[in-house]
Amino acid sequence: MRKKIVAGNWKMNKNLAETETLLSELKSKLGETSADIIVAPTFVNLYNASQALKDTTIDVAAQNMHQAENGAFTGEIAAGMLKNIGINTVILGHSERRAYFGETDELLAGKVDTAIKHSMRIIFCFGEELEDRKSGNHFAVVESQLKNGLFHITAENWKNVVLAYEPVWAIGTGETASPEQAQEMHAFIRTTIAKAFNNDIADQVSILYGGSVKPNNAEEIFAKEDVDGGLIGGASLDAESFSAIANAI
Ligand code: G3P
Repeated sequence: MRKKIVAGNWKMNKNLAETETLLSELKSKLGETSADIIVAPTFVNLYNASQALKDTTIDVAAQNMHQAENGAFTGEIAAGMLKNIGINTVILGHSERRAYFGETDELLAGKVDTAIKHSMRIIFCFGEELEDRKSGNHFAVVESQLKNGLFHITAENWKNVVLAYEPVWAIGTGETASPEQAQEMHAFIRTTIAKAFNNDIADQVSILYGGSVKPNNAEEIFAKEDVDGGLIGGASLDAESFSAIANAI
């Protein structure tokens, strides 16, 4: 049975005190959700978050990492540095990193390799632009991102992978994909994995939906057969909203 996961991508939000407040509120509000919960604060708050949550089942993820082990990469963070402070999960390939920081499939393939080398769990993000969907090219775009960024890994390493389908046109816009649109793409993704690898891997990989998931739409989206949870942006910054979404599974 594949895992149900609700992950909060805080993006560039919350200072140290605000992080501590939100985590404290989450610990009291989350309740007994059947989902695995992950939160992804900014780099500067990861250690404190990891310490604050160490006696809980909530996992802490980094929002990115560099592919090199160390060196002259000003402003970057290495996998070993994350592991050293207890961070074992990393989000890779978010559309904002692809768009604003020029992260290519090839670069992301290298980051995937480094994360696997460090036995990190990867939340691998991908998704089409609005014009791709309008032109009917969305399946080809998603397949290309998966194949070029991720499909070089071995069958064994799929145990470290969580997928996050995030149609770019739904991120931060309030234009959530319909449950049917999400299910259609998630089923396509699972079939694509089955063809490239095997049915067991395809059946076991958790595929999260991200893009304007809110308390009022989460349950319907999460109820879809091939939707295994969500990667939540804006709503993850409010304990009440994120808890409601986490309990919608
Ligand atoms: O990584 C999750 C994020 O991109 C979704 O953002 O604000 O649409 O939930 P949001």
